[in-house]
This record gives sequence, C-alpha cells and structure tokens, in this order.
Amino acid sequence: MARILSEGIGSSQERIGTPQEESRSSAALAQRHLVLVGMMGCGKSFLGRWLARRSGLPIYDLDRIVSRREQSSISALFEKKGEAYFRQKESEALRWVLAEPPGILSTGGGTFVVSENRLLLLEHGIVFYLEAPVDLLAARLRKSRGRPLLASVVDRRQALQELLREREPFYRLAHVTVSVAERSREELGERIWRSYCERAGRTGWESR
Ligand code: S3P
Repeated sequence: MARILSEGIGSSQERIGTPQEESRSSAALAQRHLVLVGMMGCGKSFLGRWLARRSGLPIYDLDRIVSRREQSSISALFEKKGEAYFRQKESEALRWVLAEPPGILSTGGGTFVVSENRLLLLEHGIVFYLEAPVDLLAARLRKSRGRPLLASVVDRRQALQELLREREPFYRLAHVTVSVAERSREELGERIWRSYCERAGRTGWESR
C-alpha cells in the first residue's frame, strides 16, 4: 500500500467557521485542483495522465502548456531565453490553469519552490508531494535528454541530490506527502485519488 507520510490539510491549514462559512468552504474545496509536485523523475506527468484517465478530470501538464504557448521545447526555451524567462512563463501558465475548471495538475520540478506559486497552489489545490529517493530519480533520469538542469552536469546523481536537499523543505509544505518508492502506479494513483476525494468532498471516480 502506498504510504501517506504526512497530512497537513484539516490541521493548521484549515480554520473552523460558522455553518455558512463551512458550506462555502466545502464548495470551494470541491473546486480545488489535484496538484502533483516533486522532483523531476518522480512521476508527476505519468501519474497525472493516469489520474486524469481514471477520474475523467482534465489534465493540466504545466511544462506542456508552457511549451505549447511558447512553441518551443523546455530545453530550447532554457537555452535561448534562460531560466528566469522560463520561470516567468511557468508562473503565468500556472495562473491560467488555476482559473480553469478543476483538474489534475502536474507541475514542473521547480514550480512549487517559487513562493507565489506555492501560495497559489496551496490555496487553489490539494497538493500531493511525490517523494522519491535520489537513487530512484537518478536511475529514471539516467538517459533523459529533456531536462535542461541536468544537461551539462557530469554527475547526475550528485546534482539531483543537491537539488533535492534545497527543495525538499518546500515540497514538504504540500498538503500530503506520498512515498512513491516500491509502489505500483495503480496503487499510488488509487491512494492519491481517494485522499483527494476525501478532502475535496467528491464521491469517487467520475467515470469508470
Ligand atoms: C524543472 C523540471 C522540469 C521542467 C524544467 C525545470 C526543475 O519538469 O519544468 O526543466 O526545475 O526541476 P519535470 O519535473 O516535469 O521534469
């Protein structure tokens, strides 16, 4: 069984309101996106597509949205315009997604690290951190060519380790942390969906 390691929502994040406020806040919760955050290689895009297929909700893959809007691969964008430009476009795309009907949102590895993005995601989404050990990330990304942050590094494992050390404290601010190691995708997907449904007041799979 996928392990849910920590759960933030309903504790410090949620306040107790009057019945009217509570019903307004349940309606707001049902409008929240299911958001996947975590390091590159942790499976956000794959799991996002899986969850969208199973739930019938729309999929928003932030990298793909940026790529389509900019008519460029993410690698080419980094190369031609630099990381700061990419981060700006990523934040713009995120704002656009958050105004769309709720769906499954796979973010890029750096999205949740930017404080304005993080605050928006915590407010408009139910955020799941897909926690993966560095060895698993390194194995999955060994041959990847589409990751500009790894393009020119000699030791990928070392680079991932450093990035993870910097980013982990931010990822841990997600509402729920789920360990992905040794879990089948189905198990992981079912577990995340159930957890999302409980928090968003949904009844279950939208279409099966
Ligand atoms: C990045 C991760 C990538 C992409 C970009 C930057 C990062 O997304 O957004 O290359 O900063 O970790 P994935 O996590 O989907 O690989």
